[in-house]
Amino acid sequence: MNKLAGKTAVITGGNSGIGLATAQEFIALGAKVIITGRNQKSIDDAVAVLGENAAGIVSDSGDMQQVKNLGNQIKAISKKIDIIFINAGVGQFYPIDQVTEELFDQMMNVNFKGAYFSLQQLLPLTNDGGSVILNTSINAHLGMYGASVYASSKAALISLAKNLSLELIPRRIRVNAISPGPVATPMHSPAKMGVTTKQFEEIGGGILKQIPVGRFGLPEEIAKVAAFLASDDSSFMLGAELIVDGGFTV
Ligand SMILES: NC(=O)c1ccc[n+]([C@@H]2O[C@H](COP(=O)([O-])OP(=O)(O)OC[C@H]3O[C@@H](n4cnc5c(N)ncnc54)[C@H](OP(=O)(O)O)[C@@H]3O)[C@@H](O)[C@H]2O)c1
Repeated sequence: MNKLAGKTAVITGGNSGIGLATAQEFIALGAKVIITGRNQKSIDDAVAVLGENAAGIVSDSGDMQQVKNLGNQIKAISKKIDIIFINAGVGQFYPIDQVTEELFDQMMNVNFKGAYFSLQQLLPLTNDGGSVILNTSINAHLGMYGASVYASSKAALISLAKNLSLELIPRRIRVNAISPGPVATPMHSPAKMGVTTKQFEEIGGGILKQIPVGRFGLPEEIAKVAAFLASDDSSFMLGAELIVDGGFTV
């Protein structure tokens, strides 16, 4: 079914994990996709996997100089877009006494500030009736050891979905959030989480015990929810949040 035929989507952080799976899903449903990321080679590799309906650009969501140029970069590829999936994100987990200002800024800059100003760049290019999807996290609803900064950055996005929904009603642009539970992606690695292999195994085992379905989610399972929010199937949804977590939070 080509429910995204004729649509153009921008996916931030689209070279890996949930972003890459969503790019694949959107293309399978008929869309053209522009992915962003911070590393040229990772983007080139992803575009090679995605095929002719994909393009990629380097735009570091944590670097305001680059974010401020995002609109121009996208315009050079496509004058108009229809779907924005704000997905680029980083998660490092430390208790408050170990959180440096640098770490705080790094996570907030990518996960929230970068998301916000990327939207400021992309919304003028978005056709009326478009769809914006913000990738948040169930951490926004949980108290989890070491997750205070990450969780706060994601909670801010849920608030943003509600507020921008109201502002964008005259343009019929819907803004919704997806909050995934634990999903098996490269984010779940000692390097990306900033922990040792031993800590990583302990954290992973602890998380697994709390997922009622007994497994991590697959990136493709989040991608299908993103496709629902991107399409007219969700035409009466705005400012909403879909929790996709194998039952973790309930
Ligand atoms: N996996 C989970 O359990 C889970 C749960 C809830 C929410 N999420 C959220 O889902 C989103 C995607 O994460 P994932 O699990 O798919 O992990 P991932 O595979 O690490 O994907 C994250 C993507 O964001 C990109 N990125 C990171 N920092 C960036 C920056 N400064 N500028 C541009 N792109 C940047 C990454 O690029 P590189 O390849 O260069 O790192 C990568 O493409 C994140 O927002 C994450 O918080 C994930």
